[in-house]
Amino acid sequence: MDYQKGNYIEDIITSTNISDDDVLPLPYLFRDFNDMPKLEQQALQLVKGTVLDAGCGAGNHSLYLQERGFEIKSIDVSKGAIAVCRMRGVKNAKKLDVLKEKATFDTILLLMNGTGIFQTIDKISHYLRHLRSLLNKEGQILIDSSDILYMYQDDDGGVWQDSNANYYGELDYFLSYKGEKETPMKWLYLDFNTLKTAALANGLQCELLNEGEHYDYLARLTVLG
Ligand SMILES: C[S@@+](CC[C@H](N)C(=O)[O-])C[C@H]1O[C@@H](n2cnc3c(N)ncnc32)[C@H](O)[C@@H]1O
Repeated sequence: MDYQKGNYIEDIITSTNISDDDVLPLPYLFRDFNDMPKLEQQALQLVKGTVLDAGCGAGNHSLYLQERGFEIKSIDVSKGAIAVCRMRGVKNAKKLDVLKEKATFDTILLLMNGTGIFQTIDKISHYLRHLRSLLNKEGQILIDSSDILYMYQDDDGGVWQDSNANYYGELDYFLSYKGEKETPMKWLYLDFNTLKTAALANGLQCELLNEGEHYDYLARLTVLG
């Protein structure tokens, strides 16, 4: 909201249980097509029919598609995010948890580590089954994530993992801004094979569309025929 209102003076600081502070520049949350990663650009070009932008944030992908004539619904659990979307001109933005969505769509977008919304490995099936129920015939889910195994690598290339810990992509995520701390949240990064296994177990085909430059990838999920 600060950025939207022209009060940009500092960035968001993020960290996780396995990594130190990192800067999330506010302008990144307001990126246009040219500043989006290639995988997001590709996802936008693959969109067809009616669209749900699930976890739309400030509405970057929604705005791009809206300007190109797509019928799109933009939802986010954040009241502030939806307020910003509306201020930016997103026409159909609603504060809603994706698990409460009931309409059906030809394309569901989950972008900027879309698997994060699943939070923990044990909730994947619940989310995937629900997302599947929101697909029209021939519908697709376009989702990106990263295999973060590299974050556990030491300088010799060995991988260190606590064998008692949960799946390595399940992180505790901390955000702070202007000295205020957000309640820590769970945020899930999924390697492609784990996503594919979970998808198949829940009646969804999972296709690897492309890989990015840093262990990231874009996948398409469709109903198993
Ligand atoms: C990493 S941000 C991505 C925002 C946007 N898609 C982008 O690429 O700029 C994830 C967003 O998902 C929202 N979110 C998290 N869980 C959600 C849920 N269950 N239903 C809807 N939105 C959710 C968060 O509030 C946040 O705005």
